This record gives sequence, C-alpha cells and structure tokens, in this order.
Amino acid sequence: MAGTNEVDFSLDGEVFGAGDGTGPAAAAAPAKPLGNPTLVVDHLHVSYRVFGGKRLGASTGFKPSLYRRLFERATRSVGAVSEVPAVRGVSFVAREGESIGIIGRNGAGKSTLLRAMAGLMPYSDGAVYAQGQCALLGVNAALLTGLTGERNVMLGGLALGLSRAEVKARFDSIVEFADLAEFIHLPMSAYSSGMAARLRFAISTAKVPDILMIDEALSTGDTAFQRRSRDKINQVRAQAGTVFLVSHSANAIRSMCERALWLDKGQLVMDGPAEAVLEAYNRAYNDAAA
Ligand SMILES: Nc1ncnc2c1ncn2[C@@H]1O[C@H](COP(=O)(O)OP(=O)(O)O)[C@@H](O)[C@H]1O
Ligand SMILES: [Mg+2]
Repeated sequence: MAGTNEVDFSLDGEVFGAGDGTGPAAAAAPAKPLGNPTLVVDHLHVSYRVFGGKRLGASTGFKPSLYRRLFERATRSVGAVSEVPAVRGVSFVAREGESIGIIGRNGAGKSTLLRAMAGLMPYSDGAVYAQGQCALLGVNAALLTGLTGERNVMLGGLALGLSRAEVKARFDSIVEFADLAEFIHLPMSAYSSGMAARLRFAISTAKVPDILMIDEALSTGDTAFQRRSRDKINQVRAQAGTVFLVSHSANAIRSMCERALWLDKGQLVMDGPAEAVLEAYNRAYNDAAA
C-alpha cells in the first residue's frame, strides 16, 4: 500500500472489531460500548514534493565555490526539489457514530491528513483503512464554474454513485438545502463564495456518506446554513457513520464533537475527549503567547 493513494475498502468490521469490549480495558471503563471501527490510520506519513526555491535545511552558511556555482547553473532545470513533510506518523482509530474534531495551528497538517484519509492524496508511508464511502467537504471540492448549479448537482450526484433518477428525486431537497432558489439555473461563476460552498455541501451530502469530513466548510455559511449542516452531521452519526471536523472554532468543536485530535507539525499531540484536548491546546497556546 505504501506510496499509493489506494484506500482499501475491502476490510470489513470483523477484521479489527472482533476484540472490542472483551479486553481488560473495556472492563475498567464501562461508560459506553465502542462502535466498530470505520477508519484506521496507521503510522501515516504524507509529504509534498515542491520544485524551485531553496532546498530546505541545506544551507551551509558559506558561498559555494565558483566551479560548483557554474556546475549547478548548468544542470539545474527546476531548482531544488524539497520534500515538505506534512503528516509525520499519525495513528488513530475512528469508530461508528463518533464525531471527531481536529485542531492545530496553521500548517499543522490538518487538511493534508483529511485528504490522505479520503484517498485523494498519495502517502509515503503507513496505511489508511476505510470502511464505506468518504465525502470530503472542503474549500477545494471540484465543481465546474462554467456550468449551472443544476448541471453540477447532476454531475456531482452521478459521481457519488447515485442514478440519474435518484438525483432527480433529490434535486429539490438539494436546492433547498443549499438555499439557492432561482440561482440554481445560473452558471456557478455568478455565485458568491458562500453560495458555492453551500452548494458543494448540499451535493456532497445528497447521499449520506459513511465517513463525512469537513474542512472548515462550516465557517463559510450563515447561521441558518450552519444549523442545517449540524443536522446533516447528526444524520451521518445516527446512521452509524463517522464525522471529522477541522475547525478553528472551539465552540464548533465543543458542540459537535465528543473527541478531538490535536495536530502539531504533522504529529499527533493529543487524542482524547474534546473538552480536555481543547483545554490543553488553549493552555499550550496561551503559555506560548505569554
Ligand atoms: N500543495 C502543497 N505543496 C507543498 N506543501 C504544502 C502544500 N499544501 C500544504 N503544504 C505544507 O504541508 C504542511 C501542512 O499543511 P496543511 O495540511 O494545509 O495544514 P493545515 O490544514 O493544518 O493548515 C504545511 O507545512 C504546508 O506548508
Ligand atoms: Mg487547512
């Protein structure tokens, strides 16, 4: 699996769910039975290769010789190739019905982690096992701006595996969810960014996914839209799905997630109850600022 972006959908719950609730740990914590795993992330490493610019960490502090500079000028075509490690050895298990917040500073690797989990990015080491269908809602989900909202609903629906008739049957509720009214018949280039975000959300959730990942998408909508989004999240959880929510809003995480992951510099700093993780995160952040 290493080095490919294939996500293995063939594992079923029995493979890693069989031992649950029988071990000594389960006896010690009688709180709530654990659901079957829906997503397993195992020592995941993801890095970007970037061309051009200066090689990171390669500066020696003194000028290379004239010979070396001439040689490099002759051979260099795209500039130095740097490897930017974005996710470095993250592991966790997500279960049915769980809603997991992901917090961390800018550049911590949150978006990259979501993309790799959704199978949209190759990873360099480790593995992701997902059961069921993933939908990643983010700032860059692809809709075609030259087409009308209506056409995008059809294309997006077909891409989700719905049939033409199924998309038609859901069309009204999608438009209503996105709150676009007659704008649905105009090309998407006429939409505001908030309207486009609402349509993306509405299309991606037309078929309730098994694993819903939201990358700061909620912050773009107005209050009414945020309420509808919340309903959708609850719907996914009620159908034994799993929700991941990346957000800078502590309130959004607190009200929608019972568990949180804290990422920093591509590594998992803390994984636990949302309230405890938020508190530790705030403490670390405020201490650093003071
Ligand atoms: N397209 C890209 N090319 C190269 N590096 C990238 C790219 N996208 C993100 N990165 C790098 O990967 C790291 C993690 O970024 P990202 O996952 O976007 O963080 P977050 O979503 O937590 O802000 C950062 O160091 C960033 O510079
Ligand atoms: Mg991000």
